[in-house]
Amino acid sequence: MSGKNILLCVSGGIAVYKACALTSKLVQSGFNVKVIMSESAIKFVSPLTFQALSRNEVYTDTFIENNPKVIAHIDVADWADLIIVAPATANMIGKLANGIADDMISTTMLAATAPVWIAPAMNVHMYNHPAVQKNINTLFNFGYRFIEPGEGYLACGYVGKGRLEEPEAIVELIISHFGPQFLPFKGKNILITAGPTKEKIDPVRYLTNHSSGKMGYAFAEEAVKMGANVILVSGADHLPVPNGVTFIKIESADDMYNAVMKYFPDVDVVIKSAAVADYRPSQVSDKKVKKKDGNLMIEFERTKDILQELGKNKKHQFLVGFAAETHDMEQFALQKLERKNLDMVVANNVLESGAGFSGDTNIVTIFHKDHSIKKLPLLSKHETAKEILGEILTKIGDLK
Ligand code: CTP
Repeated sequence: MSGKNILLCVSGGIAVYKACALTSKLVQSGFNVKVIMSESAIKFVSPLTFQALSRNEVYTDTFIENNPKVIAHIDVADWADLIIVAPATANMIGKLANGIADDMISTTMLAATAPVWIAPAMNVHMYNHPAVQKNINTLFNFGYRFIEPGEGYLACGYVGKGRLEEPEAIVELIISHFGPQFLPFKGKNILITAGPTKEKIDPVRYLTNHSSGKMGYAFAEEAVKMGANVILVSGADHLPVPNGVTFIKIESADDMYNAVMKYFPDVDVVIKSAAVADYRPSQVSDKKVKKKDGNLMIEFERTKDILQELGKNKKHQFLVGFAAETHDMEQFALQKLERKNLDMVVANNVLESGAGFSGDTNIVTIFHKDHSIKKLPLLSKHETAKEILGEILTKIGDLK
């Protein structure tokens, strides 16, 4: 979404806290964000919060003119590709519907020609009041679009319509507003591997690991949202198959090798988040192994290192490997990067709380080929996937 400018107008209600999350998510999605706050919004959250999240100056007063070369409310109105008023209070909706220009938001709005979306948030009775409904109708007739408030628990204690729509949903609406041409992975083929492999011992037993597949599935879902054609090769079988992916279910490391090799020539990015078995039993018994006195000895042989094979054969492809470690993470991650000829390694310490296999969160460090390092904080696996996909986007140009 780089190059698209979102002007977020924040008026004063308790939902201002959600506008902070909205700002952060818009920036993470690649938008340029500028924020105007009303006087009452400042009573809830400091402008400094929005400044830090948007990495831009926050406007609070029509008469603070920091740049003598421009008139701030005209300049920022012209700058915007889309204006979002979130949360929009009953008062702000009333002012906008009546052409009042007595603060920085309402003055800028009169000067703006960009599309305007209003996300109301208020008490359910206020929202249903005929005056507010009339103003909403007036704004609708001006061509403003509304992001309907949700139903649920309201800060005033009522349960009803009036909650500001969730920031994630607003960001998705904005992305779809700008259309598919702004999907950053459009036209790119991404091969993702996920979950564990199962290595057969006999018809009833196998060797596997604790990988849940959640990280790989999060990559697949986020990559589809960003416009990629996704091939998901999965050893996990209990997660819902994400919409819009080409899904290939595999069992063993060998199955995964065959599936990955089939698609590899035509893909642009490989994300190898699967936990592939490094060893498999040398002999697979075709009958159930019966118990006997004494210990059972099973000999194991190495499986093919799929990623290393890809590293040897890579041409234009961007290769991302994973390093799930319990100690010396940086050292092992960098060794894997070199040994397997990768472009990026995503490493985590699986013993760290919040970074394990089966949870919904992760704490990863990204190691790039140029040896630059980016540490991500504790994030949901979806947020982690989005961040990593964003990093891939910044590097993928190097391959062209
Ligand atoms: N990998 C692979 N094929 C294998 C084993 C691993 O493609 N047979 C990939 C994994 O998908 C992951 C990365 O290689 O992206 C992990 O690197 P690896 O060195 O194999 O790490 P571990 O399997 O954890 O083994 P070790 O730490 O013992 O080296």
